[in-house]
Amino acid sequence: MALNVFVLTGAGVSAESGLGAFRDEGGVWTQYDLSEVATPEGFARDPAKVRAFYDARRANLAGAAPNPAHFALARLQAGLAARGGRLFLCTQNVDDLHEKAGSTNVVHMHGELAVTRCHACEATRPDPGPLDAGAACAACGAGGMARPHVVWFGEVPLFMDEIFDALEDSDLFVAIGTSGSVYPAAGFVTEARRMRIRTCEINLAPSDNARAFDERLYGPAGEVVPAWVEGLLA
Ligand code: OAD
Repeated sequence: MALNVFVLTGAGVSAESGLGAFRDEGGVWTQYDLSEVATPEGFARDPAKVRAFYDARRANLAGAAPNPAHFALARLQAGLAARGGRLFLCTQNVDDLHEKAGSTNVVHMHGELAVTRCHACEATRPDPGPLDAGAACAACGAGGMARPHVVWFGEVPLFMDEIFDALEDSDLFVAIGTSGSVYPAAGFVTEARRMRIRTCEINLAPSDNARAFDERLYGPAGEVVPAWVEGLLA
């Protein structure tokens, strides 16, 4: 049977690739004040601090490889397509590990770390290297406005119309490795239930939203996701 699956991933799917989560013990937001490094106000106050934070994250990403959870989701995409269905893969992650594992058309609702955006005109360009504070924007000429193409707190996530259209067209909604604490992504499960779509959570431990899901699978994503994908494609 053709099945349309909507998968939402969060930092937990990349944890076993060595990219830290945000809210776990030792997570990024336990080490840094997010208002300083992940808001437009923080960038206006101290752009050098913000660029240094994202340059360090870019350097971590350059050395990171996809784990079995990423590869399993790439297999799921191919497997569902071969059966006439589709996987809509929406991620809150700004890393590129889904793509490195072979997934295509990944919807990065919080942007992409290895892309640079002009804070003045919003032009974007692929750029995995350190953010160049002095460079003039090739599109508008503004100087000193280079920032990562990452959605900060107080900014609107990307592709929301496309995301809600895809959710509406789905038979199954699955959240993987997300704490369910950042909206609008944390509200997708409620939307899915309202649309009478089955829901499943895969996480290391119950998330803030756990009770909203029909099915719950707990353990490391690198183990649980491949087994779940195998079962779905069997
Ligand atoms: P969080 O750090 O809030 O949550 C990560 C979740 O993954 C937690 O529930 C962990 O228990 C779980 N987890 C950790 N290791 C895991 C593993 N090996 N296998 C499975 N699950 C595991 O990260 P997100 O929910 O992605 O936004 O955070 C959402 C947003 O908040 C991020 O996109 C980012 C952040 O601030 C922006 O930067 C705009």
